Amino acid sequence: MDVLIAGTSFQDKIDHDINIEPKDVMPDEYRTHLIRQISQHAHSEVIGMQPEGNWITRAPSLRAKQILLAKIQDEGGHGLYLYSAAETLGISRDEMIRQLHEGKARYSNIFNYPALTWADIGAIGWLVDGAAIVNQVSLQKTSYGPYARAMVRICKEESFHQRQGYEIMAHMMDGTADQKQMAQDAVNRWWWPALMMFGPHDSDSPHSGAAFRWKIKNKSNDELRRKFIDKTVPQAEVIGLRIPDPDLKWNEMKQSYDHGKINWEEFRQVINGNGPCNRQRMQHHVKYHEEGRWVREAAEAYKNRLKQSN
Ligand SMILES: [Fe+2]
Ligand SMILES: [Fe+2]
Repeated sequence: MDVLIAGTSFQDKIDHDINIEPKDVMPDEYRTHLIRQISQHAHSEVIGMQPEGNWITRAPSLRAKQILLAKIQDEGGHGLYLYSAAETLGISRDEMIRQLHEGKARYSNIFNYPALTWADIGAIGWLVDGAAIVNQVSLQKTSYGPYARAMVRICKEESFHQRQGYEIMAHMMDGTADQKQMAQDAVNRWWWPALMMFGPHDSDSPHSGAAFRWKIKNKSNDELRRKFIDKTVPQAEVIGLRIPDPDLKWNEMKQSYDHGKINWEEFRQVINGNGPCNRQRMQHHVKYHEEGRWVREAAEAYKNRLKQSN
């Protein structure tokens, strides 16, 4: 008798919404897909610390400095949860970092843009973390257990990040004409890159088919992008910021916004290493990874000594 019992095979578990765990049998393609996605996500969290780290010493008040420091530390923590989740799939953190330094692994394009003014710190929290949350909320239900659980924790912190960014923007929009102008300028520069964070349109998205079948993904790039726009436009209106898209229009039938054309040529340029800060971001990461070598060696030596004395 050919009866399928829930949870007996890989696809059967997926179909019954049972998480796949590290020791479960899984197709090589599923493993490879997840390693690529989770390591890219981890690298993004860590590289994302750079544009903001640049502003710690220039934060306009002690309160702002404390909040920014806490937020950047959170991002480092997110990187660590995610490297650990990827390690359960059989790749080491060293190997992931090597792939990053050799240009074989990517990180989110958005972090190749510079944070030019204090308003950029607001725009990053509000728009970049805001876009990240939309994506990450849907990943809380992803099929790989360690990734899904990391997301639950990360999402709680991301909503604080989004609010701190929005608070900075609201504060500046309540200020002088120069401050308002600075806030608007930051939105003008970050809006489109934030939309690009969701990746290519569904019709041009090469990895989506399998990702849906395996329930790694449960919402398409365009669906997530639309969700982000619908949630963010009213927030901009409340504080008097203009979204820099002349074609942005409420669509009564869809109950959602239609947006203008995204400049995918810019996206390709940045992804291929020609964004304003690609080289700088990678040089910085390599430099501090090398400078931290003695810490890793010392930790390893200490671990070995403990082992010997036991
Ligand atoms: Fe994060
Ligand atoms: Fe964040």
